[in-house]
Amino acid sequence: MAYREELAGLPGVTLVPQDTEGLLDLDAALGGCPLDGRLLLRSGGAAAGGGGALGGPLHTERFGAAAVVPVADPGGGFEVELRRSGRTVRVEPGRSLLDAVREAVPGVAYSCEEGWCGTCETKVLAGTPEHHDSVLGEEERAAGASMMICVGRSRAPRLPLDL
Ligand code: FES
Repeated sequence: MAYREELAGLPGVTLVPQDTEGLLDLDAALGGCPLDGRLLLRSGGAAAGGGGALGGPLHTERFGAAAVVPVADPGGGFEVELRRSGRTVRVEPGRSLLDAVREAVPGVAYSCEEGWCGTCETKVLAGTPEHHDSVLGEEERAAGASMMICVGRSRAPRLPLDL
């Protein structure tokens, strides 16, 4: 709301503060939106992956992280196989996959470490990743072809990655 006075003066801009108006009714709000319109959401982890009433891709910009899911592996951690590096690293419960990977691949790309920027997206070669990010849509999660290793885990004892 830092720019509310500037935004309120722009044509076509409607501000809906959640603290006074409640949650935005997206279907109603997007019903009159032009197909090339842009929607800015302060958060919106559930919004990715579809255009809803827009009928096309929905572009969002995030201004903060989605709720952080606590990291805990009931099975006691897992191993990550870094195929290109030829190394296998153990990821203990309570330790992030990214931290474990950085030991073996110091130059691995990352930024937010909270699962919302997409910088650490990594190709999954096999296994079943457990997603905790707010970048991938439902179809991408189900496909399991990539994951955000800063917050992601593994549902299997071993997770082969393209690193
Ligand atoms: S570092 Fe931002 S999503 Fe992983």
